[in-house]
Amino acid sequence: MDTIQTLQQYIDQSSRIVFFGGAGVSTESGIKDFRGVDGLYHLKYKYNPETILSHSFFLSRPDEFYEFYQDKIVQPTLAAAPNTAHRVLAQLEQAGKLTAVVTQNIDGLHQMAGSQNVLELHGSIHRNYCMQCGQKYGLDAVSNADGVPRYHCGGMFRPDVVLYEEPLDETIITKTVQAISQADLLIVGGTSLTVYPAAGFLDFYQGNRLVVINLDNTSYDSKAALTINGKIGEVLGKIKL
Ligand code: APR
Repeated sequence: MDTIQTLQQYIDQSSRIVFFGGAGVSTESGIKDFRGVDGLYHLKYKYNPETILSHSFFLSRPDEFYEFYQDKIVQPTLAAAPNTAHRVLAQLEQAGKLTAVVTQNIDGLHQMAGSQNVLELHGSIHRNYCMQCGQKYGLDAVSNADGVPRYHCGGMFRPDVVLYEEPLDETIITKTVQAISQADLLIVGGTSLTVYPAAGFLDFYQGNRLVVINLDNTSYDSKAALTINGKIGEVLGKIKL
């Protein structure tokens, strides 16, 4: 059996599938990943993304944070639409075979494709709030702003995303551990599995059918029952539902 036939068999035989994904799921929607061959980490920028996208940098240089964030994250996301990978995962959930999508992405494309149970480990650019009065706002509060977005009260908006140096949301952690520990099939796709604690959640999987679908090799390939080095949208597009 070839790898797609094996993946098809695994999916046909499962009813509690969890998908764990990263930036590589959205590259086929036109959003750059971080560490892939054409990723943000390879751009010539004054600071590296891990510096700019950190809590301390956000507070100390909000103007420079927002310049990068608008240019490299908000605008590409506004121009993006869900791709085949997002759509197939939503269809698997609708068919009652997939219980959760766990994503490191903040672009909201899984929800746009129709997925209901999306656990956003690193938050979402679609949720923003004023740091002074707590007023909540959508992405337009940031995408329409010139420079640092501020609310009428004068407070600065910040996105509800997990910046470096910040903890993950406790509720999301609990739901992620629960979903993965109860999964009969764990499909990991489009992630380098290099950022913790996110990557560490894979260790809660208790089944023997870990599948990794990634352009580059990952440190979990040796633990996988199936590895496919290919484009996640193309691979999932071959699955019959
Ligand atoms: N199909 C499959 N794999 C792909 C595709 C694709 N179409 N495009 C890229 N990839 C792979 C790349 O080869 C790379 O290994 O996806 C992986 C993306 O890895 P990263 O860029 O490191 O993204 P991710 O794993 O999500 O990063 C985790 O790091 O900077 C932080 O908070 C940020 O959530 C992010 C976290």
